[in-house]
Parts: sequence; structure tokens; C-alpha cells
Amino acid sequence: MRETPDPQTLLDWYDVHARAMPWRTPPADKQAGIRPDPYRVWLSEIMLQQTTVAAVKDYFVKFTSIWPTVADLAAAEDADVMAAWAGLGYYARARNLLKCARAVVADHGGAFPDTVEALQTLPGIGPYTSAAIASIAFDRQATVVDGNVERVMSRLYAVEDPLPTSKPELTKLAAALTPTSRQGDYNQAVMDLGATICSPKNPACGICPWKDPCKARALGTAAELPKKLPKKVKPTRKGIAYVARRPDGAWLLETRPEKGLLGGMLGWPGSDWNEDPQPHPPIETQWQDTGMEVRHTFTHFHLKLQVLTSWAETEPERGQFVPHPQFSPASLPTVMRKVYDVACHHVTLN
Ligand code: ADE
Repeated sequence: MRETPDPQTLLDWYDVHARAMPWRTPPADKQAGIRPDPYRVWLSEIMLQQTTVAAVKDYFVKFTSIWPTVADLAAAEDADVMAAWAGLGYYARARNLLKCARAVVADHGGAFPDTVEALQTLPGIGPYTSAAIASIAFDRQATVVDGNVERVMSRLYAVEDPLPTSKPELTKLAAALTPTSRQGDYNQAVMDLGATICSPKNPACGICPWKDPCKARALGTAAELPKKLPKKVKPTRKGIAYVARRPDGAWLLETRPEKGLLGGMLGWPGSDWNEDPQPHPPIETQWQDTGMEVRHTFTHFHLKLQVLTSWAETEPERGQFVPHPQFSPASLPTVMRKVYDVACHHVTLN
């Protein structure tokens, strides 16, 4: 027995099974008239880009306790926001976060606009995030399409074309199914279904609220979908990181340029990262090789970093000394934190 998928069936499931998340307004609260806070919806959706719910939770709680409103965030120091974002990755998001908060305060009286079009004029808000905020915060007609939604749609309609080729078709199918009320709950319900029951491996079709209309389940192909074109292999780049300390304990760090990888973040001075990096020490001194290699994977390449350490007795050519009490390793992006860990295990700096 097959039927067409009914959004209401999924909403009924969501009313019972919605995952609890610190940024969510549960369905029961919304029925009682409580509206989601657009600031919290926006912040969570920026953090959730390319990042898992589990990784985001603690950062979201930290940000909203330090900066409870968009006006608080807009008034923050850039360095404090970058330091608080450290470890979450994709640092352009943090730079745009501040630009967006300041634009909301300066151009919109501190209130987020409530349409997809107006939201997209703000820094860091593209088609995905505008749809998420417009629907979740304002119940506007908009469809969110992330990896979970693509998987659910590809199975529900047994779409055999591989991703990313099939993305426009999956987007169309998702939009056609979106109801004209409770759009925010509905979008989050599809994401929750994809994250829990309609999982990449071993989907739990037996307990799925959409099991009857699901074409892939009927065909027995759910676990094979969505098909994906092979990913490009990532090249490996190499580099040298220099960790220097002054006798008074201060660390030689530099704020990376605004543009480019890890832009605006604090880090150890280093060489370029390429096939054959040339030494580029920030200070004339006798550098010690830790003999340890830091490995880190970015979106488009793997990186292997040689870590050199030294005591610094002279003024540096680049970077600035940060006194030991003011330095927090937690404010470093993950690759730089790995370099710090290696340097600290190396006896010369202790
Ligand atoms: N992924 C991104 N945004 C989400 C949301 N609001 N709910 C569940 N998963 C998500």
C-alpha cells in the first residue's frame, strides 16, 4: 500500500520526537504562543553550517551566555569573538557573524529582518541560512535543504541520480512537500528524521513515519541512496611552524590576515604551506626541530607541519609577544592548538 507523503504525518512525529537543542523552541512551547528568538536561530544556523549538532552545542551555550542579544554581540571586540569561535572551524563564519550582528544593529534597529530576500542581504547569510531563519524564526514559506534533507528526499522519491547532480531535483521535491503552516517545525522535522531514523547507514525504516509512501523502502534501496559522485582526492601541503618563547614566558604569536585561511585568527608564525615550503622564521635564532609532525585536514587539502621551537632573546621581525597569563591555548584554531601541544611536549620550552 503506497500513498503520497503527508507533511502532517511528519509534524505529528516531530511533536513527539523533536530533538531537544539549546536553540530550539519545542513544538509545545510554540503552541503556547512562545516565538523563537531570531538571534538564537541565526546564531545556531551559522554555527551548524558544515558542523555537527554535537560540536555546536557547547559553543552556542557559551556565545549566548557571553552575548545574550545581537546588540551585545555587535558591541563585542573582534578578538574576543574570534577567540570564542576557536576550534569550531570555517573562521570566515565568525568574521561574517560580527559583520552581520553590526549590520542588524546599524541598519535594522537591532531586529533581524523576517523575509528570505531581506535576510540574504546580510553578511554570511546565503540561500540555506536565509531559508532556515525565515522558516524557523518567522514561519515563512521557505525550504531548508541540507545533507539530511537530501537523503530523505532521495529515498522518499527513489532518486537514482547521484549528488551533486541531483541537488536541484531534490530541492524541488523538498519545496513541493513543504506545508503552508508550521514551516519551521516542518523543516526541522525533516532534518531530525534524516539525523535519526533516515540515517546514512542502516536506516530504521520500520519505525519511520513516512515508511508507507517511501519509494526506496518499497524497492529495498533506501540504504544505497543518495548515490554520490566520487570526491576529489585532497592534495597534501607542507609547512613549518615556529613556536618561540621569551625568557619571561611570553609567547610569540601573530594575528593572521583577515583574508584567507584561518583569517583573523591567532596563530604561530610560519612558512607558506605548499609542496616545498621555504624556511621563514619570525626571529633570527637557533631553532630546534621537535622531530614531530602536526597533521591537520582542511576542506581542500591535508597539511603536515614541521614544528620548530626556540627561546627568543631579540625583537621579532613578525608577530607580537603575548604574556603568558594572557595567552589561552583555547583561543587558537585547532591546527595551531596541535602545534602548541607538540611544542609543549618538547623539553626546550619547559
Ligand atoms: N541542522 C542545521 N540546522 C538544524 C536545525 N535547526 N535542526 C536540526 N538540525 C539542523
